[in-house]
Amino acid sequence: MTARGHVKVEKVAKLHGQVAALKGVDFDIRPGEFFALLGPSGSGKSTTLRLLAGLDKPTRGRILFDGKDVTALDAQHRDVAMVFQSYALYPHMTVRQNIAFPLEMAKTPKTEMAERVEDAARKVSIQHLLDRRPGQLSGGQQQRCALARAIVRRSGLFLLDEPLSNLDAKLRLETRAELKKLQRSLGVTAVYVTHDQEEALTLADRMAVFMEGEIRQIGSPAEVFARPNSIDIAGFIGSPPMNLMKARLDNGTPVLAGRPLPLRVKQQAGEIVVGVRPSAITIGEEGMPARVDLVENLGDNAIFDLSFDGGLVRARGPDPLAFAEGQQVAISFDAKDIHLFDAASGHRLEAA
Ligand SMILES: Nc1ncnc2c1ncn2[C@@H]1O[C@H](COP(=O)(O)OP(=O)(O)OP(=O)(O)O)[C@@H](O)[C@H]1O
Ligand SMILES: [Mg+2]
Repeated sequence: MTARGHVKVEKVAKLHGQVAALKGVDFDIRPGEFFALLGPSGSGKSTTLRLLAGLDKPTRGRILFDGKDVTALDAQHRDVAMVFQSYALYPHMTVRQNIAFPLEMAKTPKTEMAERVEDAARKVSIQHLLDRRPGQLSGGQQQRCALARAIVRRSGLFLLDEPLSNLDAKLRLETRAELKKLQRSLGVTAVYVTHDQEEALTLADRMAVFMEGEIRQIGSPAEVFARPNSIDIAGFIGSPPMNLMKARLDNGTPVLAGRPLPLRVKQQAGEIVVGVRPSAITIGEEGMPARVDLVENLGDNAIFDLSFDGGLVRARGPDPLAFAEGQQVAISFDAKDIHLFDAASGHRLEAA
């Protein structure tokens, strides 16, 4: 059998009247991949997912599933399973009837249908809840019911739009891990919309970062985290966000708050932005003099807000009690942890 679940999106744009919800995006998803669409609110993630589902048609561009052009196909003729944030369960039907719904639509024989519903319910551990109605389930159980309804179709492509956002924090973490295991065990391709970068970083094999109706970067979470290609992405991926400090180039050497940094770029002069992640900043006795403004104790680590003559930075350290508010310290970071961006264009600059 050839692998199912290959998705190719070519120059797809979507206008809603005058609003360009999507300005032309390209991406390619491999069979079995967990692919996240990540971005701030209004950046075009749900628009993209709805186009993949066939719920909307693109203004231009093509969508291919397993090499076949499906751009003009309606939702019911695309073999995809969808899970929305709002679950969209039918309140008057039992869990069993909700899960069976796609099979009813496809006129699946009764005995086969019963087996497949039981099987799907077992995969998400709700087989004991089949005779209840959605209103008699917890949020997490409703979410599983929606997942079972997707599983029952035996589709090679799962489209999920913020499926965990209605769950409380603890359940969200548990369900997140289960979802990843489930996707692996089913061997399906998953396209997963989220505005939560932590969710994308933990779940995705690769992700596309959306901003203002465009994809600004595609890569594995590790790649995007290690080499954000612009100031915008650098500030969006990572929590707390990367420190971004104004600096300038002097003969190709970045100069921050009057101090040359130990690296060079090809470009000779100009305004730049120096980025350093909070976890890459060392607080100690050597480096640039700084003052501890605030300590945010997170239990087994802490975030320190520091001011120095180049501005404000945040550092993550292992010991909340290591430094006190008001204390004079020094901060330093390694050359390998420095990200450089052109201040005007926002583009990443490569070290020479
Ligand atoms: N039916 C519509 N008519 C007009 N504008 C729309 C329509 N649907 C979406 N938009 C606009 O298109 C842009 C992208 O919307 P989309 O729903 O894709 O964002 P999103 O990235 O999913 O955001 P969120 O994280 O808030 O769900 C937004 O500016 C939105 O207001
Ligand atoms: Mg959305």
